[in-house]
Amino acid sequence: MDRGGPAPIDLVGEARERAVPLLREAFEGYYRWHAKRTLGEAPIVRAIERDGRVIGVSILDRPAPEVGYVFYLAVAAPVRGHGIGGLLLDDALERFRRDGLEVAYGAAEADNRASIALFVSRGFRPVERKEPSYREGGLGAWGLRSRMRLVGGEVLLGLRLGPPATGPPS
Ligand SMILES: CC(C)(COP(=O)(O)OP(=O)(O)OC[C@H]1O[C@@H](n2cnc3c(N)ncnc32)[C@H](O)[C@@H]1OP(=O)(O)O)[C@@H](O)C(=O)NCCC(=O)NCCS
Repeated sequence: MDRGGPAPIDLVGEARERAVPLLREAFEGYYRWHAKRTLGEAPIVRAIERDGRVIGVSILDRPAPEVGYVFYLAVAAPVRGHGIGGLLLDDALERFRRDGLEVAYGAAEADNRASIALFVSRGFRPVERKEPSYREGGLGAWGLRSRMRLVGGEVLLGLRLGPPATGPPS
């Protein structure tokens, strides 16, 4: 399979503007506006370029010291289904693991089959609202949901990367 060609690179400072055309193409309405805003503010933006164009981008956040969040992930429509989204998600998870994070989250609209399939293919599972917190060994994102800007109709997906620092309460 085509593994997406070159490895992801960091987009820093003004270079992030290069991802704007892709975000415009991949998102609509509120998400388009918010993705562009997040592009400028997020601590980490990774991109895959081909022929001088950004064809895949991931926007990553650290909403808590032990938590990684895939804020946005987008692949140019003509090259979807060729492993680029998976490559970017693997890259994000590798980075989160390297930084010693405990849990990773991503969000998708409930009807976004491609996005949910992408997260599930890497071991994520839907997080129930009533779940025990990630600090207690569950995947509950207590206190983080507003920072993640989750809106109605979105599914939160979570993946445990390592054991909780303190373990479940006895
Ligand atoms: C979601 C998105 C990033 C996936 O990117 P992609 O490069 O097409 O994904 P990949 O080819 O790497 O596929 C990754 C996995 O997801 C699955 N998948 C991807 N698209 C799918 C689809 N349309 N239907 C079902 N499964 C799909 C693949 O089977 C694959 O699983 P595998 O690795 O076990 O085979 C892309 O569709 C996209 O940019 N969509 C618009 C923006 C968006 O909705 N982003 C997500 C919300 S932030």
